[in-house]
Amino acid sequence: MTMARKRLVIAIDGPSASGKSTIAKLLSKKLGYTYLDTGAIYRALAWKALQRKMELNSEKEMSRLARQSSFKFHQQGGDYMIMIDGEDVSDKIRHPQVSEAASKISSFLGVRQTLVKIQQEIGAKGGVVAEGRDVCTKVFPEADFKFYLDASLAERAHRRYLELKEHGIIVSEEKVKEDIQRRDRSDSQRTHSPLIRCEESIYIDTTDLTIEEVLNFTLEKIKFREGDFLSLTTTKN
Ligand code: DC
Repeated sequence: MTMARKRLVIAIDGPSASGKSTIAKLLSKKLGYTYLDTGAIYRALAWKALQRKMELNSEKEMSRLARQSSFKFHQQGGDYMIMIDGEDVSDKIRHPQVSEAASKISSFLGVRQTLVKIQQEIGAKGGVVAEGRDVCTKVFPEADFKFYLDASLAERAHRRYLELKEHGIIVSEEKVKEDIQRRDRSDSQRTHSPLIRCEESIYIDTTDLTIEEVLNFTLEKIKFREGDFLSLTTTKN
């Protein structure tokens, strides 16, 4: 008889451009788990509100919009797609204007209650690597592993600048830095589920580390506690 292995919940929080998405994607691929980008859900909702030219400062309107929207996720290999009401918005949600709007509407409790529920349903059976701002504290407080990724502001601004450039979005590095700083402030100072580094999270400063180094560090931590779990479940690459 073969025993079913426990499918873990791995939670990663951290500020913008700290490397969460890159590491969460790679970890999920290694483990054959679902990758859950919680920020993409806030972004998709913000994109819809912007499209409809809605009042972003109205908690009532934004909370209603969240309740009335449907979200779908599709993952194949390294590609990850998010749809809202059947429309693929995976690329559209990366624009700086959407980042700003997502940060704003994510401060509303009504919005968070609806979106957190969706995220918890996705992770209910385990086998998920989730990343965001409140994944360790609110979405999956019982997660098997919690990591907090960080990096210096200059490094994060540089990474985000390169990422935007790759997507054909030209903004100066200085402007990217200002945007990140403003968003950091609002994401960590809001009343509901602010970004905090919780005590039990393993802290990783990725400023001077390569992606491979961060990935190996996280895998080692999981391996250390889960024994032979990884050698039996990881896929190659
Ligand atoms: O991770 P990101 O930059 O794609 O997230 C976009 C915004 O969504 C971020 O500024 C704050 C919000 N967010 C949140 O409030 N809670 C999460 N778990 C993830 C993102």
